[in-house]
Amino acid sequence: MEETLKRVLTTAVLLLTSANLALSATRCPDCGSTPVPYPLSTGPTCGDQSYKIRCNASTLFFDSVNNSYPITSISPSIQRLVIQPASLLPNTCVTSDLRFQGLQLNNSLPFNVTSSNTILYLNCTQTLLGSPLNCSSASLCHSYINGTSGAAPCENAPICCTFGTGGSSTAYSIRVRDSGCRAYTSFVNLNPELPVNRWPEPGLEIEWVSPPEPVCSSQADCDGNSTCGPDPASNGVNRCFCNSGLTWDPVQGACVDEVTCQSQGNCGGTDRTALIAGLTAGLGGALALTTVAFLLYKRHRRIIEAQERLTREREAILNANNGGRAAKVFTGKEIKKATNNFARDCILGAGGYGEVYKGTLANGTVVAVKSAKLGNAKGTDQVLNEVRILCQVNHRSLVRLLGCCVELEQPIMVYEYIENGNLFDHIRGRNAGVRSQLTWRRRLQVAHDTAEGLAYLHFSAVPPIYHRDVKSSNILLDENLNGKVSDFGLSRLAQTDMSHISTCAQGTLGYLDPEYYRNYQLTDKSDVYSFGVVLLELLTSQKAIDFNRDADDVNLAVYVQRMAEEERLLEVVDPMLKEKASPLEVDTMKALGFLALSCLEERRQNRPSMKEVAEEIEYLMSIGTGEVEN
Ligand SMILES: *[C@@H]1O[C@H](CO)[C@@H](O)[C@H](O)[C@H]1NC(C)=O
Ligand SMILES: *[C@@H]1O[C@H](CO)[C@@H](O)[C@H](O)[C@H]1NC(C)=O
Ligand SMILES: *[C@@H]1O[C@H](CO)[C@@H](O)[C@H](O)[C@H]1NC(C)=O
Ligand SMILES: *[C@@H]1O[C@H](CO)[C@@H](O)[C@H](O)[C@H]1NC(C)=O
Ligand SMILES: *[C@@H]1O[C@H](CO)[C@@H](O)[C@H](O)[C@H]1NC(C)=O
Ligand SMILES: *[C@@H]1O[C@H](CO)[C@@H](O)[C@H](O)[C@H]1NC(C)=O
Ligand SMILES: *[C@@H]1O[C@H](CO)[C@@H](O)[C@H](O)[C@H]1NC(C)=O
Ligand SMILES: *[C@@H]1O[C@H](CO)[C@@H](O)[C@H](O)[C@H]1NC(C)=O
Repeated sequence: MEETLKRVLTTAVLLLTSANLALSATRCPDCGSTPVPYPLSTGPTCGDQSYKIRCNASTLFFDSVNNSYPITSISPSIQRLVIQPASLLPNTCVTSDLRFQGLQLNNSLPFNVTSSNTILYLNCTQTLLGSPLNCSSASLCHSYINGTSGAAPCENAPICCTFGTGGSSTAYSIRVRDSGCRAYTSFVNLNPELPVNRWPEPGLEIEWVSPPEPVCSSQADCDGNSTCGPDPASNGVNRCFCNSGLTWDPVQGACVDEVTCQSQGNCGGTDRTALIAGLTAGLGGALALTTVAFLLYKRHRRIIEAQERLTREREAILNANNGGRAAKVFTGKEIKKATNNFARDCILGAGGYGEVYKGTLANGTVVAVKSAKLGNAKGTDQVLNEVRILCQVNHRSLVRLLGCCVELEQPIMVYEYIENGNLFDHIRGRNAGVRSQLTWRRRLQVAHDTAEGLAYLHFSAVPPIYHRDVKSSNILLDENLNGKVSDFGLSRLAQTDMSHISTCAQGTLGYLDPEYYRNYQLTDKSDVYSFGVVLLELLTSQKAIDFNRDADDVNLAVYVQRMAEEERLLEVVDPMLKEKASPLEVDTMKALGFLALSCLEERRQNRPSMKEVAEEIEYLMSIGTGEVEN
């Protein structure tokens, strides 16, 4: 008994010791004759444990999720290394890592693929011809095949394509697959002007994020130049932070004089930015290869541009003080006159908010008059204030709120009147004429309009406005079939005094953010979720909730998610749309499907923002342009 206890204790001490050793920023010993720079780690007692590589038989290997690649060079000063891509299986045009779907990096580790690689995709299927990759007969991959004896088998596989890495979706994988391309190779910093016999050896460059200061459990883990203290960036973690006058140099893995550090220009300090999970996380395997990669290409830069634009927009709004457009306060008399005293035959529709009437103001303007049904009526001042906020928003994709009336029993909102009716009805062909005009391109446009309207509410309105009831019946189409979001922020009016917690279920079945059931809060990401359902409606022309589908498919979101998991996403696309679509359009349909699924991610933080969604749709639209008629 005592013996066992002693053994356990010894083991514990040993474990602790080795753990402690691992904490300090020590460089690993050379692997054969190859130096292993910090933070790369070949063992538990050196380097930074997030940066594991492997030393076997004097050669360094980089392990991907399922495979292993020899490292051919390391440049610690720029934090990059080059691996040797998988080779072709003998006498075939198939890479040895095809069975692992090519190179897949673990995206929770601090490594990603740099933008310096030219990838040649070999032995591709016909489907690639419709992709945005360069698969033309002038593509570099043909020169490579013709000029490389080892690639001779690929002459029997006529379709090959070329592209450069650097999009967010190629950051962690170079995917090959049976239904796409079956082989690839890569060159770092390739000069396409050079003849093939002067190309470098194949290589694929990977970079690593600057390592943060080493983790510590007590001061004993840190050297004399640093102090163990809590890491403000991650809760409960302590790190050896450099003493004053010294700066963390992630290249040397040490605290150095600030002067030294600046002259080297390498010090990033703790710079472990959240690695992009985003859209690609939800993509699964269903898509024809990198089509999605390219559809999402440039996403990163777009996000930065979007952020800058956002700042400008916010400033504009703040500077404009009152938004420039005052809400009109209508009298009860005016409203009654406009709606013929709320005549039944003026009713346009009814919903959770109350009824909508068509009305005509004294000056002849046709308007939609909404009487808000208030569960928990607010005071007149509050209603006016909310209306003032809502009236200030002004975007071409939002139905304009003209004013309100608080004299009658229920508060009244007056909106501009949109002639054509709502998307829900049109998709389902209540108006056959309009349905036939809702081509794929037009649907993308409507999706884009809506996304922009919502993004405006989330990011440009001050304070931000969450719609809380996004659904196809709240998206109106004007005479040119432009989408316009209506009913935004109405549920604010029904709010109780608990500023952000609503006590009764809001939103509409089939569109409601599942996280709402967990914490009873609606956020901008709840609108993103609901919008994901609208995208699926546009894609499938089916209802969000339909009891005519099989029991477990009643909910459209669940149904499409299941189909995507079974790699049958295309089967749910409205046959009428598919029939008329070019191969490129079919690709954008799939991409939109996956975009929708990313909006439907269970966890809010995994969903893209409305701004990002709008940009992705814009990108999908730009791909179609020029190459597809209509
Ligand atoms: C290390 O290399 C040897 C010989 O090259 C090989 O047999 C062995 O499987 C390798 N070990 C690992 C863990 O890769
Ligand atoms: C990716 O890395 C994380 C962190 O080291 C690890 O927990 C996870 O199992 C890895 N995932 C795969 C698929 O290898
Ligand atoms: C191309 O890939 C297919 C599927 O893996 C394989 O059967 C075929 O042999 C390859 N073509 C060549 C020329 O190797
Ligand atoms: C790759 O590895 C993961 C995790 O270890 C495993 O679940 C998956 O099946 C592997 N994929 C292939 C294609 O081998
Ligand atoms: C494809 O690449 C070749 C060679 O770099 C270039 O001449 C050609 O213009 C490219 N084609 C397209 C469609 O980008
Ligand atoms: C293939 O390479 C040879 C010389 O190596 C050249 O004469 C021929 O034109 C090339 N063919 C193509 C299709 O590029
Ligand atoms: C790869 O990681 C580096 C360093 O964190 C980052 O600057 C870069 O944007 C990443 N590249 C991509 C395509 O995500
Ligand atoms: C502390 O920093 C100084 C100045 O950079 C350096 O000379 C010294 O070696 C460091 N001491 C330790 C224990 O790293």
